[in-house]
Amino acid sequence: MSIIELEGVVKRYETGAETVEALKGVDFSAARGEMVTVVGPSGSGKSTMLNMIGLLDSPTAGSVTLDGQDVTGFSEDERTEERRAELGFVFQSFHLLPMLTAVENVELPSMWDTSVDRHDRAVDLLERVGLGDRLTHTPGELSGGQQQRVAIARSLINEPEILLADEPTGNLDQETGGTILTEMQRLTEEENIAVVAITHDTQLEEFSDRAVNLVDGVLHT
Ligand SMILES: Nc1ncnc2c1ncn2[C@@H]1O[C@H](COP(=O)(O)OP(=O)(O)OP(=O)(O)O)[C@@H](O)[C@H]1O
Ligand SMILES: [Mg+2]
Repeated sequence: MSIIELEGVVKRYETGAETVEALKGVDFSAARGEMVTVVGPSGSGKSTMLNMIGLLDSPTAGSVTLDGQDVTGFSEDERTEERRAELGFVFQSFHLLPMLTAVENVELPSMWDTSVDRHDRAVDLLERVGLGDRLTHTPGELSGGQQQRVAIARSLINEPEILLADEPTGNLDQETGGTILTEMQRLTEEENIAVVAITHDTQLEEFSDRAVNLVDGVLHT
């Protein structure tokens, strides 16, 4: 069964007198343990589609099913709750807080959860992405690739079922990108997480199980 499914998803943005139809009836699904890349030209609707999968926004028409549950009509609060429980995000610009250390940045999304030892878990995640010796560095003291690895560790602190990434290797050289892709591949294979990643990086396509192509709001599988 799919962990995430979009059916006939349409997204229209109204700006003043103009309407942009960013998604024109998109059908998409991803299974646990699968790594799918979304490719397509600038402005074709990739980030919009990721926002739908990530419950960051609601479709104009169509439905979104997460882990067997229809979440299309969910309120903002309900969507936030589902995001916390099921989803991890990695953005192209890392969104790290500059005044916090690496380990504090990783702990941050789990601050509300008192049932786990978040500090130990954050340290463990940073060690897994090869940053065990950079725990107390702030983002300004880390390289771009290291910041991206902190962002990936942070996206995993709440043990998501789905990891969503918008150009996760966009700012990285081939070798650093490869390290991150290897970690993502490990997540799908060993932890059965679904990864959906937007990319222009052909290396990322090579690591993935499947690529779909979005052109002008229409998905080609
Ligand atoms: N909040 C918004 N309001 C109005 N129009 C928007 C909004 N967000 C996106 N759009 C429009 O929707 C279309 C799809 O945008 P989207 O950001 O999904 O493209 P993309 O494929 O991610 O592009 P890129 O590769 O450049 O990041 C574009 O034409 C864009 O101008
Ligand atoms: Mg985009």
